[in-house]
Formats: sequence, C-alpha cells, structure tokens
Amino acid sequence: MLPFIDYRQASPDSSRTLMIDACDAEAIAREHGTPLYAYSRRAMVASFRRFEAAFAPVAPLVCYALKASGNLHLLRVLADLGAGMDVVSGGELERAWLSGSPMSKIVFAGVGKSEPEIAAALSGSHSLLGADAKGRRGEPVTGRGPVGLFNIESAGECERIDRIASSLGIDARGCIRVNPDVDAHTHRYTTTGRSENKFGIALSEVPALFARFRNGGRLRLIGLHVHLGSPIATPGPYAEAVAVIGDLIDRLASQGTTIEVLNIGGGYGVDYGQDAPAAIESFATALVPLLAPLKARGIRIVMEPGRSIICQAGVLLTRVQYVKQGRTKAFVIGDAGMHTLIRPALYEAYHFVWPATPRGGLTPGDLREDQPFDGLITCDVVGPVCESSDFLAQGRRLPPLEPGDLLAVFCAGAYGMSMSMNYNDHPRPAEVLVDGSACRLIRPRQRAIELIASELSVEER
Ligand SMILES: Cc1ncc(COP(=O)(O)O)c(C=O)c1O
Repeated sequence: MLPFIDYRQASPDSSRTLMIDACDAEAIAREHGTPLYAYSRRAMVASFRRFEAAFAPVAPLVCYALKASGNLHLLRVLADLGAGMDVVSGGELERAWLSGSPMSKIVFAGVGKSEPEIAAALSGSHSLLGADAKGRRGEPVTGRGPVGLFNIESAGECERIDRIASSLGIDARGCIRVNPDVDAHTHRYTTTGRSENKFGIALSEVPALFARFRNGGRLRLIGLHVHLGSPIATPGPYAEAVAVIGDLIDRLASQGTTIEVLNIGGGYGVDYGQDAPAAIESFATALVPLLAPLKARGIRIVMEPGRSIICQAGVLLTRVQYVKQGRTKAFVIGDAGMHTLIRPALYEAYHFVWPATPRGGLTPGDLREDQPFDGLITCDVVGPVCESSDFLAQGRRLPPLEPGDLLAVFCAGAYGMSMSMNYNDHPRPAEVLVDGSACRLIRPRQRAIELIASELSVEER
C-alpha cells in the first residue's frame, strides 16, 4: 500500500491491522493518545535515498524543505544522510543547525527575512539559545559560520543583507530567486512562479541586480533560484523554467556574470491516492538531461524537496468521538480536524482515510477513494472545530464506525504537524518516530495549560 505503512497481521493469529514498520498503529495510539502524528523512519530514509539516486547524475545538494515537517528528530535522520536544509525563518534556521546540518548546507529562503533573522544567519550566535548554544555534537555556536546561501527575493533584501553583512564583517552569498512566470498547474494558493505571485524577481530585473552587486560590499550574488509551487504533478513546468533560466544564464554570461549555483526548488508531486503524479524517477528522467549541460559548465545544482521526502512516511491517527447521522449523510467526528491537518480545508486536498482496524477485515490495498467493499457507509470525516471547513474527508465510503475506533489519515507527513494550530484552544498533537519495532516519542503532546500560561504570566493593571 505504502512503503513500511500498510495493513498486515501484527501476529500470526491476529487479523490484519494498520502497521507502521513493525508497530501496530492501535498500540501506538493507546500508548501516546490521539490525535497523533506517527512517522516511519525507514520510509523517510527510503524516500530520501530514492530522491538522491534519481538525480545522482547531476549530484545535487539536496536541501530538505523543513517547512514540510520540521521536528528536530526527523531533521537529524536526514542530516545523518547528508541532507542540507532549506529554511524560511530564524526559527527554522536554528532547528536546522541543531539537527547537525552544517551551516554551509543550509539555504535561507523566504520573502520577508527580518534584520535579526539575517544577522543570526550570518553571525555565530543562536537566536534562540544565545552565544552559549552548543550544536548536536557539542560544537560551539560561535564558530558555526554563515549560512551557505540566501535565496533572495527582492532588491531591498539584497541591500539589507549587504548592509548587515558589512556591519558584521562577514561575507554573504546569495542566489536571486527568479520569477519565471511559469504556471505549475497547482491549486491557486500553492502556485508561486507566476508574475502575479509575491515570490521572486522578474526576469527583466535580474541582470541589473547582478551588475549592482558584482563589485564591493559583502554580499556576493553567485546563483539563481526558482521554485514554481507545490505539489507539481509533471516535469513539464520544471522543464519550462529550466529553459527560461538557461537563457538568463547566457544573458548574464554575456554581461560578464558567471552563475555558480542553480537551485531548482521543490514541489515534486506525491501520490496521495487520487491523481497519480509522475514518479520522482520520471521527474529525473526529464530534468537530468536539461541540468547536465549546466552541471558540465561548472554550475552546482541545488534542490529543495520537502513533501516528496516526508509525505508518505507520516500518518495522522485520530480517535472517533461520535458518529452522527445528519439529514443527508453521516458525520464521523474525530479528535483531529482542520487544526491538526489543514490541507483539506485550505487546499481542498485529498487524504485517504480508513479505520486502523476495520470491522469485517475490510483492509484496503491502495489509497483510492473507491474501495471495492459492500456494506460501507457514506460520511464526512470531521473534527471538533467550530467551522464548516473543519473536515479531513468528505463524502467518503468507509466501513461502519463507532466511537472509540481509530482512524488513520494517510500521507499526512508533509504540511500536517507543521501547519497545525491552536484554534479553539486545542493543544497541538504529539509526534512519534517508528523504527522497526521501536516507537519513540519525539514531541510530547502540547498541554492545555501552555496555551494560557503566557497570558497568566502578565500582571493585570
Ligand atoms: C522555496 C520553496 N522551496 C521548497 C519548497 C518545498 O516544496 P515541497 O514540499 O512541495 O517539495 C517550498 C514549498 O512551498 C518552497 O516554497
């Protein structure tokens, strides 16, 4: 069904149930409570290796986009595999460094970098833990060096980085994020490479910017960055963008600017069970021949996958609280909702949902909505939040459910926990990392008191 996450017998005499690696999802949920994000370490490692192998001919620096899912313990698994990190805030930067990833492998993106965030990315002081902070292996923060690359989104940002770098006496290196005006054919909220989007710099403005920052100052522009949106189903938009960028590289060369780095971003589609996007190998088959000539000219390729590394490795487990028969359909009300996994509400995204231990042994072989079983009920799977957009799935046919049953929401590893929120004062879920028969808590469930403690700490006047 999915690598390392499927329905199997937990023991020879038991019926088939959802297993994450060698751990029974029911047992994990009983021990850690729900809602709960569970990740398979082996699935993560496999997808990272698969990505690297697909693009090996152009030997990219693969910087995991930790906005997809940024738990420190997940990042450490990837850092140990040699991954760099793509970060978009000061907080993400400090997580990435604590994961053990060297600063030289961190790319700092984001349209709104603040002055303190830029200073932290350049100087040896941890913006959360201070100058005494120690890295994963006890190394002092003071010697950590500047971030490998800034992905720069505007002329104003170039000036700001240059000014801060000069005042600190540190050299900064940057890629200009180009807006190539290419349609990635994603949901309109996740398209980033069109001219109407806030991201990147118009092609026509890029040469002048390079000319301006070629001499003097502490910021050196050494490359180009492009990210078109997410998730992208086919290689076509990337091929279009690489062609546009290739022309730009030639134009820049004719004005005396040598491009050393091309970062082609993330966004590679993943099969959630609805519209099968191209496999990562197909993206590579289409893109490697376009990137190889650039590589041969000495241009270093950087990629920023997030979803394609972590999406299928994560499952959201939620306990059914009520089953309510409405006038036109049933509502299965669980303890997870839009506050736990916002993608269905925000992007009308599809996630396959199925009981962890379905009655009658109705275990699915794939993630398709239409499962070939009799006796299913039609229902919406919803949460406790006071919004009509609070749903995880709508109009689904599921095996009969009762309060107390455990539901699994599949392919929830990316943009699940990282986008979860406290709306309606619901604490954020716990996270566990499964490796074979071992299951480790990697983030305790947020306690309700944490939501109000900072307000209680402020004196009434
Ligand atoms: C600049 C940039 N790089 C990489 C990514 C990661 O995209 P994905 O998780 O779809 O691979 C994003 C996601 O929005 C992004 O904005």
